[in-house]
Amino acid sequence: MRTKIFVGLQTHNLFTILGNVLVATLKIAPPNSYALILGVSSGFGGHTAIELAKAGYNIFGVHLDRAVTMPIAEATKADIEKTGAKAIFFNVNAADEERRKEVIAGIKQEFASVQGEAPSIKVLMHSLAFGSLKMLIAENPADMLTQKQIEMTQDVMANSLVYWTQDVFQAKFFSRGARIFAMTSGGGSRVLPMYGGVSAAKSSLESYIRQLALELAPWGITANSVLAGVTDTAALRKIPGSDVLMDNATMRNPSHRLTTPDDVARLITLLTHEHANWLNGDVIRADGGENSVDVTWWKKEG
Ligand SMILES: NC(=O)c1ccc[n+]([C@@H]2O[C@H](COP(=O)([O-])OP(=O)(O)OC[C@H]3O[C@@H](n4cnc5c(N)ncnc54)[C@H](O)[C@@H]3O)[C@@H](O)[C@H]2O)c1
Repeated sequence: MRTKIFVGLQTHNLFTILGNVLVATLKIAPPNSYALILGVSSGFGGHTAIELAKAGYNIFGVHLDRAVTMPIAEATKADIEKTGAKAIFFNVNAADEERRKEVIAGIKQEFASVQGEAPSIKVLMHSLAFGSLKMLIAENPADMLTQKQIEMTQDVMANSLVYWTQDVFQAKFFSRGARIFAMTSGGGSRVLPMYGGVSAAKSSLESYIRQLALELAPWGITANSVLAGVTDTAALRKIPGSDVLMDNATMRNPSHRLTTPDDVARLITLLTHEHANWLNGDVIRADGGENSVDVTWWKKEG
């Protein structure tokens, strides 16, 4: 009987200790740490915001939603708040300079109201999906990307990373050890029908990340691209032939399943840990090995 009680107590203590270690491991954000997520309402941005909130980050989120998709944005905000973190969302076009200045002013206002430790941005994530999906060349000019569409795709999906980083830096919101992540894809280095404009933007995004890694190193800020495997999101479903892409990825992926937004969210959250500070200027694959495989003999059933 005595032994039983003793073992019971030990087990209880062990669980308490393990629980504390787990909480300490997951709560990797120091007090008053914030993440700024561009593209927060769904997909990778939404899931990463929730995962970062669980790890102790407050969230500033930028998204572009109309009435139809607003419930998804509201659900993401509610999930962040459920963790006890703050969720301050701005429903604006991230590529509009005036709106960007308004968001920066909003962040300044929030920081001015914070008590205790000086608040700072520890994570900036670029996860915007807003590109024109057409051919570069077609017999019918209406089927080709226009100059305006190419420029808009480049602006939203690549250039905006630089403008946001510049403004956050100039406002002195970043703290030492801050992380920048930009979502890229296999299409940044390989071709896919209708993906020419987005592919060029992804190559630029990866290039900007390398340059930011170089230029921000003196401030201890790292910048990396995250290359996700094919993931069933609203943005993916807009790509012509997305069903073929999903089937192909399921066959190629060593785990024979698609990547999920949570696979990526958890990896990004881990990489915000201070022990990951030597990873810089890289393209990190978050794809379960999908992009290492060209041909597989595994066949999708049905
Ligand atoms: N889904 C995939 O298979 C996949 C794979 C690799 C990389 N990516 C990349 O990941 C990123 C996110 O894509 P997702 O699949 O999570 O898409 P998603 O459609 O679920 O999310 C896109 C987010 O961007 C926001 N947004 C779009 N345009 C905006 C604008 N102009 N201003 C402000 N917010 C805007 C939307 O409101 C939404 O929050 C994209 O860059 C995409 O290319 C996607």
